[in-house]
Amino acid sequence: TERSLIDQHGRTIRYLRISVTDRCDLRCRYCMAEQMTFLPRAKLLSLDEIAIIAERFIARGVTRIRLSGGEPLVRRDVADLVRRLGSHVGHGLDELTMTTNGTRLAEHADALVDAGIRRINVSLDSRDPERFHYITRHGDVRQVIHGILSARDAGLMIKINMVALKGLNEDEIASMLSWCISERLDLSLIETMPLGAIDEDRVDRFLPLTTVFDRLSTEFPLVRAGHRTGGPARYWQVEGATTRLGLISPLTANFCDGCNRVRLTTEGKLYMCLGHEDQVDLKAALRDGGIAGLDAAIDRGLAAKPARHDFRIEAGAAPAVGRHMSVTGG
Ligand code: GTP
Ligand code: 5AD
Ligand code: SF4
Repeated sequence: TERSLIDQHGRTIRYLRISVTDRCDLRCRYCMAEQMTFLPRAKLLSLDEIAIIAERFIARGVTRIRLSGGEPLVRRDVADLVRRLGSHVGHGLDELTMTTNGTRLAEHADALVDAGIRRINVSLDSRDPERFHYITRHGDVRQVIHGILSARDAGLMIKINMVALKGLNEDEIASMLSWCISERLDLSLIETMPLGAIDEDRVDRFLPLTTVFDRLSTEFPLVRAGHRTGGPARYWQVEGATTRLGLISPLTANFCDGCNRVRLTTEGKLYMCLGHEDQVDLKAALRDGGIAGLDAAIDRGLAAKPARHDFRIEAGAAPAVGRHMSVTGG
């Protein structure tokens, strides 16, 4: 059997997140600046290279793969990649998932289901058209909600991702949960993280989920759920409903001890941690050394996986890392 992926802190890697493109059709204010420079297309991994690397991770014990970005559905050949990786579901891979902004979901939903995807996460920070447009700078919320409901009706389980933003969507969190309950969707709330330069100071929008949860628990019957997805959220079940509420609290409840994942960028770099610069160049390793070279580079990377991020959200603080979430796929 192949060498399994265990880091210096005794954590086993079973989850690979792949950013299939750093591009996006939206410019969410907490994620990107209005003016962004994206990678030239010539630098991207080909679909075949992504698949070869992903298949090597599956052989070495990865059981979950998530495609993200940027917006994965803006990459032209993404459906072919989904089909190729989907063929491993049930044969080494327990789950292939995607995180998307939903703008192109309606036209892709059936293909995702056919390829073997069972659930997806869709970003939705507000259901109010003007507010959604403000936060995303370009988005039309009706299109996204249409995408979400089409995907649900195509048979996908859906979790809404909502970044909790002080003074922006703070007053809408309870009504988002009510909507998710009535539409039979799950909801994850996320603390904003200091990744990449944006046009505002993240401290002005940071909302600790400890506060949010205290408020929600007075309005909703929430019981702690043992549910595990392999992701960082801690889950609560809304009693009497199918909806689960997930909290992703990197700032107020660090979850790095249980970290089981690494991240492949569009360019073929493997990042060991969302909050650090440590990386190895898998594209070069594969090109120069084939599968053996790839394995050696992965091992080198793992040996350097940091114990935890040290995100801080403080006035005037520079982001923990210069790259945006869209480069490493969250
Ligand atoms: P599932 O639990 O499998 O549904 O996935 P997920 O919630 O991890 O995935 P998703 O891509 O929807 O990510 C939700 C949020 O969690 C995003 O803001 C990610 O950046 C964040 N996230 C995922 N993994 C990590 C991690 O290892 N560290 C930190 N700090 N944030 C993470
Ligand atoms: N902090 C927290 N979440 C972020 N996302 C994008 N940028 C950030 C950030 N800086 C979210 C998106 C999406 C998920 C993959 O990550 O809203 O739901
Ligand atoms: Fe695009 Fe997602 Fe970033 Fe918004 S949060 S700009 S949808 S990558």
